[in-house]
Amino acid sequence: MCGIVAAAARREVSEILLEGLRRLEYRGYDSAGMALIDDEFDLKIHKRKGKVAELEKAQLKQPYHGNTGVAHTRWATHGEPSGVNAHPHISGLRVALVHNGIIENHAALRAELIEDGYEIASATDTEVIVHLLHRSLAIGGSLLQAMQKTVVKLEGAYALAAVDIENPDTVVGARTGSPLVVGVGIGENFLASDTMALRQVTDRFIYLEEADLVCITPDSLEVYNADGSKVQRQVERIKEGLETTDLGNFDHYMIKEIFEQPEALEATFGGAINAEKVENHFGDDAPALFDQVKQVQIVACGTSYHAGLVARYWLEEIAGVSCDVEVASEFRYRKRVQHKGTLLVVISQSGETADTLAALRNATADEFIGSLVVSNVDNSSLVRECDLVFLTRAGIEIGVASTKAFTTQLVALLMLTLVLGRRRGLPDSRQRDIIAALQSLPECVRETLELNESIQRLSEAFIPKRHALFLARGIQYPIAMEGALKLKEISYIHAEAYPAGELKHGPLALVDSDMPVVAVAPNDELLEKLKSNLEEVRSRGGELFVFADTEAGFANEARVKILPVPNCPEVIRPIVYTVALQLLSYHVALQKGTDVDKPRNLAKSVTVE
Ligand code: G6P
Repeated sequence: MCGIVAAAARREVSEILLEGLRRLEYRGYDSAGMALIDDEFDLKIHKRKGKVAELEKAQLKQPYHGNTGVAHTRWATHGEPSGVNAHPHISGLRVALVHNGIIENHAALRAELIEDGYEIASATDTEVIVHLLHRSLAIGGSLLQAMQKTVVKLEGAYALAAVDIENPDTVVGARTGSPLVVGVGIGENFLASDTMALRQVTDRFIYLEEADLVCITPDSLEVYNADGSKVQRQVERIKEGLETTDLGNFDHYMIKEIFEQPEALEATFGGAINAEKVENHFGDDAPALFDQVKQVQIVACGTSYHAGLVARYWLEEIAGVSCDVEVASEFRYRKRVQHKGTLLVVISQSGETADTLAALRNATADEFIGSLVVSNVDNSSLVRECDLVFLTRAGIEIGVASTKAFTTQLVALLMLTLVLGRRRGLPDSRQRDIIAALQSLPECVRETLELNESIQRLSEAFIPKRHALFLARGIQYPIAMEGALKLKEISYIHAEAYPAGELKHGPLALVDSDMPVVAVAPNDELLEKLKSNLEEVRSRGGELFVFADTEAGFANEARVKILPVPNCPEVIRPIVYTVALQLLSYHVALQKGTDVDKPRNLAKSVTVE
């Protein structure tokens, strides 16, 4: 989603801003722009539809320079992707502003500004903010004061950064509902949507809190809370070495990240040798809270939601804990009945997803005994606001389609199952089996990665197809959902997952020789039932692609292609089969020539509702 970078420095910042935008590309966007205050105190602006590379070309052709500036990647919400709608937006050739979020009362503000004589050039909800700033500055006062007066008029979510030619060394920022960090430098300070954007210039950051405003110049940095009082926020140093954005020998981040899974899974599990050690991963406050847990409510979006669905099978079957799972955008607006002793578990690789954050914020102490977040980003909003935190150790994930962040979430949730199960009398032998299975997981995934070439060959059959059906039963059903999601996200083939038992209740009508049917079929207690469903597909001319272990007893035959997945302990099979399906979607997308790492219309970090 939208990305912000801003700088107030004693040196020229155009390249810093552009590099920041490049580093934010992974979030997903469809236009980009940059505004600088030049030596003559004029605003110089480039805006382009499309990639940051287009903006770079514009800057090469007509270089603009300045020590103060704001830049932005826009993911269109209000108004199509275009140069006019791209940020920064300007007012009175004086103020330039970038915005991440949605202003819900933009229509009323627009009408008010038009009445005051302002012309609104774009179709965005953002442009009203810059005119409000301008109107306030025209009356008098500093850029900070103007921002303070402006934000009280805004309803919705926003992270903002603005510059004003009358305050040429200053950038003012504000956040409510969308993240904004301050990058602290020497003789220079920065703002950005996330720390990634600024790692080339600093390793010291302030994570602004809800409703904070910030004013930076090269030599000063002041943060104000919603009451307008000056506040101190902690500067945190980010450790080096954890984040590498180098592609190495890989062509795409997605395939690199798929291949990083053995190490990511191992790091997330952390080599615990018993359930007590596993519990340490959830922090010092975990035992007291876990002792009270009677039920679990999981809330998440997208791929993280699928992780929650897998966890429900584990929690109910292994730990004997009742579990509900819901997408955050539904959960947050629904009147709910929660049972006593329910732990709220939010899952989010980014830790910033707007709906998940809102779900957490509107959950009350009456409903839940506490909250736990499973996230891949330390210091993210969800991490800061939950009672307990489990940090997955996937390392930075750049590909928009989540891979290693998902499988590490599953490890975290299996670890949660173990610690809750232990409290409910899960036999020692079963605990040891789960730990042994988790220890064997990196190796099982390595073996699965060796299927890369076979999966590539298999994927060719999908290239001309417009639709695909994924079938599975039991705990593999959410894995089929994740496989279908991955395929549609990056190859744009319409893919749906069904529990195989539902085949007769609708999807069978779609089956013909044009409909590839992917089956996730490990040798488990539901295998025979699944086989009957697959026969129903075959006898209607459907083409089957069966991901199965050797013990499942499938053989290649007409219209049935088998992809042999390594045998591994049953409890970790959802993770292992996921890896095979990730490879399938990657190779289909690759051959279809789509933008694998940055699929159209999608964003990595969904910071608006
Ligand atoms: C976007 C991403 C997905 C992710 C979902 C939820 O759609 O592209 O990969 O699963 O958001 O994000 P979260 O950060 O909360 O896991």
